[in-house]
Amino acid sequence: MTERGVSTVRAAVLDAPGKPLRIETLHLDPPGAGEVLVRLEASGVCHSDLHQADGDWGDDAPLVLGHEGAGVVDAVGHGVDDALVGRRVVLNWMGPCGTCDACAVGREWECADSKALGNRLPDGTTRLRREDGSEVFPLLGLGTFAEAAVVPAKVAVPVRDDIDPAVAALIGCCVSTGVGAALKTARVVPHSSVVVIGLGGVGLSIVMGAAFAEADPIVAVDRSEEKLERARAAGATAGVLAEDDDERTLSAIREAAGGGAEFAFEAIGLPRTIELAIRCVATGATAVLVGMTAHAVPASFDAFDVVDRSLRILGSNYGFTVGNVDFPRYADLHAGGRLPLDVLVERRIELADVEDAFEAMRRGEGARRVVVYPGTA
Ligand code: APR
Ligand code: ZN
Ligand code: ZN
Repeated sequence: MTERGVSTVRAAVLDAPGKPLRIETLHLDPPGAGEVLVRLEASGVCHSDLHQADGDWGDDAPLVLGHEGAGVVDAVGHGVDDALVGRRVVLNWMGPCGTCDACAVGREWECADSKALGNRLPDGTTRLRREDGSEVFPLLGLGTFAEAAVVPAKVAVPVRDDIDPAVAALIGCCVSTGVGAALKTARVVPHSSVVVIGLGGVGLSIVMGAAFAEADPIVAVDRSEEKLERARAAGATAGVLAEDDDERTLSAIREAAGGGAEFAFEAIGLPRTIELAIRCVATGATAVLVGMTAHAVPASFDAFDVVDRSLRILGSNYGFTVGNVDFPRYADLHAGGRLPLDVLVERRIELADVEDAFEAMRRGEGARRVVVYPGTA
């Protein structure tokens, strides 16, 4: 970055699905009307970045990846309150339009007209360019694998200044997705039995939400022992190591959950674990699908059983997040010792290490690796 408002940024760019990310220096326009320039402090590496890099969700390119970020407002465009300058903000990747029917009734996670979901700013353009003038687009309208981003002011949500920037970044995606799935989508109640399948950043956040809601037992399920340990630190009361044989895994889950679960969450995005989540719930209970598959992937269930046992199958996108309300609330709950979000941060890395983080994620290792940008306190 150079002088305030006019900048060049180092960024990790996806040229085409399947290719490794390349670190490039891009030109970043100053913030226009209604926009802010955010100097990024940290960005988590989320499985959704990997989905995009692998081409699971189309081939829009070139893209600056990264959508789980936090930073400090460095400059504001016309019409934006100056008081925002210097504030620590968490970025909202939904980029709600603010005017569609869903937004009008406050259900912004269902926004029908978000340009961010198409990797553009609200006016359909980008503020990022290569030296030759060609455009580069920000993933989900953010592109947090860069030293700075220009975003609409309304997606940069101020949070308390004393929060660790790495933790703040995670509030932007996995925390809100997971904690929100437990508290807002499912409305987990005290003493209910909860099963969480898949213990990445999203699944561990579901465990924290369930623990906050005083669920008991909270059964954590993953293929990796290491993840089960981390889930205990997040509030799980039991762990089940997933086996190759789903029937065995299912019996182990049922036993640990005292029969069937009142709430089961799938936080991976695989048809077989989606089916497992639906099968492991008790009569009258709720399965919540949180993990994202590649586009148009079907999963199946026993239709007779779902009707016969009056099951509920819910989809939960972004944990029903309303950024302006939920981001500061999750940050405050963390500060008050009610959500141990630091358990999610496995390692702080540099921008050039994102490819390694993707590899670790493919192997199912570790929790969140978080890019921390130079100069971050
Ligand atoms: N059984 C049990 N656990 C599994 C299995 C399986 N068959 N396959 C993978 N896992 C575990 C991995 O070991 C890992 O702990 O699922 C976890 C997935 O975690 P991450 O890759 O870190 O994914 P995360 O970022 O949490 O996202 C999960 O939610 O938002 C979506 O796009 C995102 O689809 C992704 C999902
Ligand atoms: Zn994400
Ligand atoms: Zn909308």
